[in-house]
Amino acid sequence: MSKILTWIDDRFPLTALWNSQWGKYVAPKNFNFWYYFGSLAAFVLVLQIVTGIWLTMNYKPDASKAFESVEYIMRDVQWGWLIRYMHSSGASMFFVVVYLHMFRGLMYGSYRKPRELTWIFGCLIYLALMAEAFFGYLLPWGQMSYWGAQVIVNLFSTIPVIGEDLALWIRGDYTISDITLNRFFAFHVVALPLVLIALVAAHLMALHETGSNNPDGVEIKKQPKDPRTGLPLDGIYSHPYYTVKDIVGVIVFLAVFSIVVFFLPEMGGYFLEANNFIPADPLKTPEHIAPVWYFTPYYAMLRAVPSFLDTQVWGVLVMGASVLIFFAMPWLDKSPVKSIRYRGGLYKGWLIAFVISFLILGYLGVVPVTVWGQFAEGFPFYGADKATVVARVLTVVYFLFFLLMPWYTVRDKTKPQPDRVTWK
Ligand code: HEM
Repeated sequence: MSKILTWIDDRFPLTALWNSQWGKYVAPKNFNFWYYFGSLAAFVLVLQIVTGIWLTMNYKPDASKAFESVEYIMRDVQWGWLIRYMHSSGASMFFVVVYLHMFRGLMYGSYRKPRELTWIFGCLIYLALMAEAFFGYLLPWGQMSYWGAQVIVNLFSTIPVIGEDLALWIRGDYTISDITLNRFFAFHVVALPLVLIALVAAHLMALHETGSNNPDGVEIKKQPKDPRTGLPLDGIYSHPYYTVKDIVGVIVFLAVFSIVVFFLPEMGGYFLEANNFIPADPLKTPEHIAPVWYFTPYYAMLRAVPSFLDTQVWGVLVMGASVLIFFAMPWLDKSPVKSIRYRGGLYKGWLIAFVISFLILGYLGVVPVTVWGQFAEGFPFYGADKATVVARVLTVVYFLFFLLMPWYTVRDKTKPQPDRVTWK
C-alpha cells in the first residue's frame, strides 16, 4: 500500500491534499454540538447529488411526461420511491442543516475577521442552494411546481423598464411551459450542482487557510505552541478526533432522516405539498399558493410590503435585501469579542428577536394572510389583516438586527475573552 501511495504522491499531491485539508488540519479542541452541521451539510450535498443522478435515469424533462415519469419512479421503478423520497426530504433537510450551520456562525461570530471570505462563500452557497431548490421544484410538474414558478418568475416582471423582458427571457415563453421546464432541468441537474461543488470547495479552502473559529472565539493560531506536540495549545488534529465526532453526527442524522423518509416523507404538507400530487394545469390556479417552508420567511416579507406608487417592486426589493444583507455581517459587527459566551445582553437580545422574527415570518409565509382575521372597529389598523400587520413589524425587527448592529455591538457590555478555550 505504501509503495502505491508513494507512486501516486510522486505524480499527484494526494497525501499533501489530504493532510492540508483534513488529516493534519489543526482545529480547536472545543468544538461542540453546533459544529456538526458543516460536515452534515457536505454529507447531504453528496446524498442529493447521488440520489439526483439516479432520479435522472428515469425522469423525463418534458411537460407532457414529467408528472407521469415521477409517478412511474414512485410505483414501478425498483426502489424508485426510496430514491425519490430521499431526494425530496433531503432537500428540506439540507435547509434544516444549513440554517443551523448559519445560526452557529451568528452565535460564535464565525463571520468575523479573518473569516470574512469563508462567510461570503457561505452566503453564495446559500443563494445557489435557493436557486437549486427553486429549479428542482418545477420538475415534478405538479400544480404547486407550476404555479409556484409562475409567481416567482412574475416577481421579476415588477422590475421597472426591463422587468417584462427579463421574465420572458427566464421563462423562454409567455407562460411557464415545456421550454421553461427544459431549461430549469438543465440548471438543476448540471449548472447549479457544479456551482455548488465549486463554492463548497472554495468555502473549505478559505476556512482551512484561516483556521476554524470555536465556541469561545479564541484564535488558536495566535497561541504559543505546545513544546511536546508542536501544535497550538488548544489545537488537535482533525483526524482522527473530528473524523470520529463527525461520524457520530452522520449516524444520528441518518436515524432522524430515516424516520422522515420512511414515516413522514410529506411532513404534513411541509416537505411535499398536497397540491403537487395534482398534475400542472395552466387553466386552474390553486386557491392558496405558498412556497416550500424554507422560502416562507422571505415570502412573508414580500407579501408584507404594501404596493407603493402603483408597483409591487418594493416587496421584491425588500425580499432581495433580506437575503443579501447577510453578506454585510462581517462589517456590521463591531464587538470586541466574537462568541456569544462573552457578549452582553444587547447582542443576545437582538439575536433572539431576529430568530423569533424569522420563525414567525416563516409560519406567516405558509398560511393565508387572513389566518388571524382582521382588526375590528375601534382598533388601530381597522380592517387590515392582523397577519399582515404582524409580518410588517417582524420584517422591521429582522432588518433592525442588521442595521443597528454597528450601534448595539459597540454599546454591548462584553466580558473579556480568555486566552485559552473552555474545555473539560
Ligand atoms: C452546502 C452548504 C455548506 C457546506 C457543505 C458547508 C461546509 C462547511 C464545513 C465542513 C465547515 C467546517 C466545519 C464546521 O465548522 O462546521 C464549515 C464552516 C463554516 N461555514 Fe459552511 N458550509 C455550507 C454552507 C454555509 C453557509 C450557507 C454559511 C453562511 C452563510 C456558512 C458559513 C460557514 C462559516 C462562517 C464557517 C466557519 C465556522 C467556524 O469556524 O466557526 N456555510 N462549512
